[in-house]
Amino acid sequence: MVNTRISVSSSSSSSHVRNRGQPRRPSRYISIYVVLLLASAAVLFLFSQRRIAEVDRKDQSKNWFQATEENLWDSSFGFGYRTCVHRTSKYKAPQVWDRYLTVRSNGGLNQMRTGICDMVAVARILNATLVIPELDKKSFWRDSSTFADIFDELHFIKSLEGDVRILKELPKESAFLPRARKHFSSWASLSYYEEIAQIWKDYRVIHAPKSDSRLANNDLPLDIQRLRCRCLYNALRFSPPIEILGKTLVERLKSRGRYIALHLRFEKDMLSFTGCTYGLTELEAEELRKIRESTSHWKTKNINSTEQRIGGFCPLTPKEVGIFLQALGYGPSTWIYIAAGEIFGSGAHLSSLRSRFPNLVFKDTLATPEELKIFSNHASQAAALDYIISVESDVFVPSYTGNMARAVEGHRRFLGHRRTIVPDRKGLVELFDKFERGELNEGPMSAQLVRRMHKSRQGAPRKRYGPLPGMKGRGRFRTEESFYENPLPECICRRRRLS
Ligand SMILES: *[C@@H]1O[C@H](CO)[C@@H](O)[C@H](O)[C@H]1NC(C)=O
Ligand SMILES: *[C@@H]1O[C@H](CO)[C@@H](O)[C@H](O)[C@H]1NC(C)=O
Repeated sequence: MVNTRISVSSSSSSSHVRNRGQPRRPSRYISIYVVLLLASAAVLFLFSQRRIAEVDRKDQSKNWFQATEENLWDSSFGFGYRTCVHRTSKYKAPQVWDRYLTVRSNGGLNQMRTGICDMVAVARILNATLVIPELDKKSFWRDSSTFADIFDELHFIKSLEGDVRILKELPKESAFLPRARKHFSSWASLSYYEEIAQIWKDYRVIHAPKSDSRLANNDLPLDIQRLRCRCLYNALRFSPPIEILGKTLVERLKSRGRYIALHLRFEKDMLSFTGCTYGLTELEAEELRKIRESTSHWKTKNINSTEQRIGGFCPLTPKEVGIFLQALGYGPSTWIYIAAGEIFGSGAHLSSLRSRFPNLVFKDTLATPEELKIFSNHASQAAALDYIISVESDVFVPSYTGNMARAVEGHRRFLGHRRTIVPDRKGLVELFDKFERGELNEGPMSAQLVRRMHKSRQGAPRKRYGPLPGMKGRGRFRTEESFYENPLPECICRRRRLS
């Protein structure tokens, strides 16, 4: 089986597919706080199970298409949680040091966003002044945008003032100093960076040529974790033109009613990289194979598409997404915003989704050509629009895992556990294959199965998953749930009871 635990734009970010049932092994230094937290999580779990059971009983009297409205759209998952990103009483104001961290961010938009916030935290740990990161212009997306094109630079600098000093560029007198070029190790710990700080004895500038996943997900001080959240959810907002158009488009969508944002990862790069050719014509499959052959940093060339698909390592096809959403109970008039680049192939793939859900909306059917003009040839800026529309949607559904899906899911959790439905691709493919073999028909029975399969995959609060059980050594970090996919418990806390 091919391991697809590498992202398209960089080899070090994980898009793991895993069995998420096993809680993380508690550290040796387990405190009463953690015990209490686990206990409240258990109570919460029982509580949510009961709710689900009630919903289930109601379901049985309804037919396939008539899932209740709150069943489909409600995000009353709040369960008494709130965001908590304030500094602890131990937090010290940053001191001004004559030391600088310069960074080149790598990857697509969301890999850069999370990487930038990790570098903010690293600058804080290293007691360094951060220089505004340079963005990746060479990734698959080939976007020449600078930091200030995509992000609100001034806001970024100002809102992190109490945490890290940030400058637009190196001060003149430091610009020509020798820099220590340092490839930080992946998922590095606090002690790793404390050791890195030894470099200050010899250098005044450290340059990091990569920013993705350079900081551990877990076992970092609370104040560092919360700084990452303050950075990603408050400081690193998009530049005014992007924010304004994003808001406008969300308003346009909401004026029509509730909508699903579908991250339809049925794009050329993804299909070629994963070797998933199910449902494609031979010609299309051949085109993808050639792209894979000629892309040198994609190491796996021979991929058995059938095995990939059975293993749950393929993005759902547009047709499969249609079956899935219909089985969950969404009616044919549902508005669906397609958050994606160009969908692969002729219109044929998309029309198999459109036949079930005619109200598909795209960037260019929602915005005018003038509004979109500044975004053409700037894939990262266009992706930022998709990000905003996805975070603000009533329901978010990613057809595949990846940096964008993870970042949006985490942000929605942070904003109050807005509903995110993560398809169980392995389970669904098993079901779809039964349809194909004529062993099962699409209908109320299969819809029940699909709903049952996704009862606990709708974005309700839970603690971030640790490494897969049995994983040893550094490899286990790759299997952890990403900090930004679920910043609970550090940045999302139980609301205190009124006494
Ligand atoms: C950063 O500065 C603080 C305060 O002076 C100090 O306690 C800490 O050890 C420094 N950290 C590093 C990595 O040098
Ligand atoms: C791909 O894998 C499937 C299932 O294991 C197998 O039946 C098929 O023969 C394989 N195809 C090729 C071309 O190896």
